[in-house]
Amino acid sequence: MTSEPFSDARIVDSWRKNASPWTAAVRENQIASRTLVTNKAVVDAVLSRSPRTVLDIGCGEGWLARSLSNHGIHAIGVDVVPALVEQAKKAGGGEFMVASYEDLAAGNVDVSVDLVVANFSLIGKESVESVIRRASSLLNPGGSLIIQTLHPVASCGDESYTDGWRTGSWAGFSEEFSDPAPWYFRTMESWEHLLADSGFRILETREPVHPETGKPASVIFIAE
Ligand SMILES: C[S@@+](CC[C@H](N)C(=O)[O-])C[C@H]1O[C@@H](n2cnc3c(N)ncnc32)[C@H](O)[C@@H]1O
Repeated sequence: MTSEPFSDARIVDSWRKNASPWTAAVRENQIASRTLVTNKAVVDAVLSRSPRTVLDIGCGEGWLARSLSNHGIHAIGVDVVPALVEQAKKAGGGEFMVASYEDLAAGNVDVSVDLVVANFSLIGKESVESVIRRASSLLNPGGSLIIQTLHPVASCGDESYTDGWRTGSWAGFSEEFSDPAPWYFRTMESWEHLLADSGFRILETREPVHPETGKPASVIFIAE
């Protein structure tokens, strides 16, 4: 356990603690925005690129890889939390392994796929920057990168619209959750620069709207 409150390492500590309630929340459809909007939005975005092979980074308990395998896609999921990877392996539908973004960035994971996807899993600062910088080396020629993340405008709250660490919260989640992870807020412009500086060209930006709030439920970047 690290004592630094705002750090990539603290994020990993938090996910280690919350692997079990997270698995239940996803599998029992406890997160309304996911079942109403964002699950279908990310699957549709992936299918729009017609990949045969996908690497799901920060795959959690593996729902996205399982879902893509129903569309005939060979999906590989990686996550830093062994308990989540165990859950993913048990449920099947893809190939799963324990690996961190740092491992991917260091070139320790030998895969080559048509598409790399990150669904609400790019939470930190340096770990995110390093894995995006390395992502093109994980792709076959002409491959794509898809990121679904919190919409910067909708998730900004009362704080200023500038990049920086934010305190996490499990508001709206079950009481089983503890020790929320901090997260690194990025503006829309900052996400675009990060992708461009890492050699990606954004082909499309999607802003799926939550039908009940009328606000964006997320932003999806489709890049190559
Ligand atoms: C909000 S969950 C999303 C999980 C999954 N993508 C989904 O859609 O259900 C964030 C995930 O990112 C993973 N993660 C966070 N930091 C990571 C890192 N440095 N390396 C690998 N995985 C990481 C966590 O373990 C967690 O499973």
